[in-house]
Amino acid sequence: MKYTSLGKSGLKISVVGLGFWQAGSRFWGWTDYSSVSKSVIDGVGAALETNINFLDTAEVYGGGLSERVVGEAVRIHGRDNFIVASKVAGYRVTSGSIVGGVENINRRLGFTVDLIQLHWPPPYPWPLCWSIRGLEEAVSRGLAHYYGLSNFPSSLLEEALNCSKRFEPVSNQVQYSLAYRVPELKLKGLMERYNLALIAWSPLAKGALAGLREAKTSAQRGDKVFSVASSDSTLLDTVSRIAAKYNASMSQVALAWLIAKRAVPIPGFRDPSRVREYAGAARLRISEDDLEALDEVSIKYLRIWGEDYGELRTLRYIPAFIQRIAITLMGGI
Ligand SMILES: NC(=O)c1ccc[n+]([C@@H]2O[C@H](COP(=O)([O-])OP(=O)(O)OC[C@H]3O[C@@H](n4cnc5c(N)ncnc54)[C@H](OP(=O)(O)O)[C@@H]3O)[C@@H](O)[C@H]2O)c1
Repeated sequence: MKYTSLGKSGLKISVVGLGFWQAGSRFWGWTDYSSVSKSVIDGVGAALETNINFLDTAEVYGGGLSERVVGEAVRIHGRDNFIVASKVAGYRVTSGSIVGGVENINRRLGFTVDLIQLHWPPPYPWPLCWSIRGLEEAVSRGLAHYYGLSNFPSSLLEEALNCSKRFEPVSNQVQYSLAYRVPELKLKGLMERYNLALIAWSPLAKGALAGLREAKTSAQRGDKVFSVASSDSTLLDTVSRIAAKYNASMSQVALAWLIAKRAVPIPGFRDPSRVREYAGAARLRISEDDLEALDEVSIKYLRIWGEDYGELRTLRYIPAFIQRIAITLMGGI
């Protein structure tokens, strides 16, 4: 395994991490606790064996279930072996609510979270600086070792950096893959300037870049990037051809491309056997020519999703209390 710095935190994280939205979310078809728990314990065990040490969850995943099973698995396989990230929901718009959210996260995990991220920017009219105060307060009280952001476009990221007084964010988690390259337009350069880690969510376009053609879950069915990428034969044929050349899988090629772009992909899984495959991406050395071929075949995904990063931007227009009620009634996302 290769390691990289989590921004300016000094923490060394594996160049491939793991995402745990899949752990217990109805949108990924889960129904019972025991099979979720088994999948996660086995997956985290495989992470330990392959030296993946960076795990990502969130308070809204399965309404807290993901954090509970990730916490259980990490405690079984050794707390000191992992760097665990979670996220407070963007509907927490006051400092007190954010601090309370992080306390709840630590209770569900069973230990202090290493990186607390704000899952999405606060809705209007709440000042962003209030959220930053809350994240700083959580770090200052020792409830999290570092804080980061998620789904922040470049303009809001600059505002967040201007707000920060006691501690600066160390990362921004955004959608980024061969099928979604918007972060390259403005965000990535800005993040490199401030030494913020780029944590890439949906690195496999929910399985499309691994070769999955038909959606199996509502998370995949409802995803525009999955739908476009899974029918893009030109892209998928190139990924598949390069994978065959290196005796690798398509998912390894898609992840290795992100690693070459200095992003940290956090692929998700329900089938724990995928973890060893994902870890293999860190060993894959794709030639400059093949990386260029991947750049060329995916260049259309630089702009078709917008000129600046804006995932989850519609949540900015939905009042915080409505977001909270809706997500709670759904039992999380
Ligand atoms: N910050 C945010 O707003 C945000 C948003 C979305 C996601 N995330 C994070 O990012 C993580 C990953 O992103 P994602 O959930 O969008 O998915 P993803 O990592 O792009 O794709 C993961 C899915 O690909 C499937 N897959 C992998 N190899 C496959 C193969 N060979 N054949 C068929 N399917 C294959 C897996 O299927 P199986 O399930 O069948 O194993 C898995 O569920 C999440 O877990 C979460 O932690 C964050």
